[in-house]
Amino acid sequence: MTRQLHFNLFLHDTGHHEASWRLPESDPNANLSLAAHQHLTRVAEDAKFDSVFLADSPVLWSDPGRRPAGKLEPTLLLAALAATTTRIGLIATASTSYNEPYNLARRFASLDHLSGGRAGWNIVTTAGAAAARNFGLDDQPLHRTRYERADEFLQVSTKLWDSWTDDAIVADKESGVHAVRDRVRDIGHHGAHFQVQGALNVPRSPQGWPLLVQAGSSDNGREFAARWAEAIFVANPTLAESQEFYADVKRRAVAAGRDPDHVVVLPGIVPVIGDSPAEALEREAELERLISPEYAVGTLATVLGVEVERLRLDEPLPADLPTEDEIEGHKSRRTLIVEWARRDNLTVRQLIGKLGGGRGHRTFTGTPVQVADTIQHYFENGAADGFNIMPAVLPSGIEAFAAKVVPILQERGLFRTEYTGRTLREHYGLPRPANTLELING
Ligand SMILES: Cc1cc2nc3c(=O)[nH]c(=O)nc-3n(C[C@H](O)[C@H](O)[C@H](O)COP(=O)(O)O)c2cc1C
Repeated sequence: MTRQLHFNLFLHDTGHHEASWRLPESDPNANLSLAAHQHLTRVAEDAKFDSVFLADSPVLWSDPGRRPAGKLEPTLLLAALAATTTRIGLIATASTSYNEPYNLARRFASLDHLSGGRAGWNIVTTAGAAAARNFGLDDQPLHRTRYERADEFLQVSTKLWDSWTDDAIVADKESGVHAVRDRVRDIGHHGAHFQVQGALNVPRSPQGWPLLVQAGSSDNGREFAARWAEAIFVANPTLAESQEFYADVKRRAVAAGRDPDHVVVLPGIVPVIGDSPAEALEREAELERLISPEYAVGTLATVLGVEVERLRLDEPLPADLPTEDEIEGHKSRRTLIVEWARRDNLTVRQLIGKLGGGRGHRTFTGTPVQVADTIQHYFENGAADGFNIMPAVLPSGIEAFAAKVVPILQERGLFRTEYTGRTLREHYGLPRPANTLELING
């Protein structure tokens, strides 16, 4: 079959634009509403999207004074969404730095059972001292240490998911045997970060393992992705950067002994759609006018690792910013922002305007045909296997994308018109993992 696009909807209350909640049409409490999330997920499922996704961090992430900052726990919310959908994949973010593998492996196995094989895990290492301070630490562990822990976290989680063989449960009422005893095994993991005896208290789930997703693109992040990720979210402001990233992670996957087609690369895009080019540009400008620079400059200073007083709104970024090597937080996002500001000679105010929509993701502004053309161009020129769709305003942005852009791509044979698979892995064209403990133990 010809290669087709994959689409994930990045759920984000009233939209990815930081000022979207202030629009007259927006429900400022959508972040806490099951009905609002059900509506978004239904629109995406009707449009045959592969998945929806919820970001997360175990910390109050944004200034509650300036935007809706409350976030429901993602696996709980997705379990509720599983009950009102049948096909679309459900991807939740969870941190390997501030969880234990046993709890998390159990939670994702449960979600995979409850949804009939539609669970995915966006594996993050959680940057920032603020989250660390919620877990008895004074500062975040070093970047390298966070990724080392993540790697062992995945070793333990996959062993736990495999601690029951697929045929362990026989449920033989006649003989009184529910599961065959030696098909449920302890994992006996002893490592630098974790000691876990096992077995998991949830049998192997429909997908074997949830879909493994990753979104960090520093050198450590890319190595981790090459080893574990089956889908990758990434922020790239230009086509050239998407092409570089795409080629690099596929190359690293091959070096790690994996099939590059089993690593699906999904750059984030912010579609701003208008019926005419002028209408789309006006929509973008309207959102930019709603940004609060005093708030946005604080967020920017945190990512760049500088004191906020050093950023002057009508001047360029200071010349002597900390380098990527000198910060322990979001390394790749810092570099993306600094390179963008320097390349386009932007003042801090202009930079904030550009970041307001997608925090470094590329904005596709235009008519439905223009947006579809750009998507096709990326897809056919080594930049993407699909996209993480991040509408500036929700729900209107996904409604417009589903009603106007998706049919154009379906007409061109670039996107499915019906689901052909049942599980999230099947939507993304990914194999169900063999049971590694079964292989090792014969
Ligand atoms: C689309 C997308 C979604 C992300 N979602 C989260 C998230 O939910 N939680 C989080 O802590 N980080 C999230 N990140 C950030 C990355 O996981 C990572 O921390 C960041 O890119 C810096 O990682 P690096 O230092 O390896 O580059 C996301 C990144 C992207 C591109």
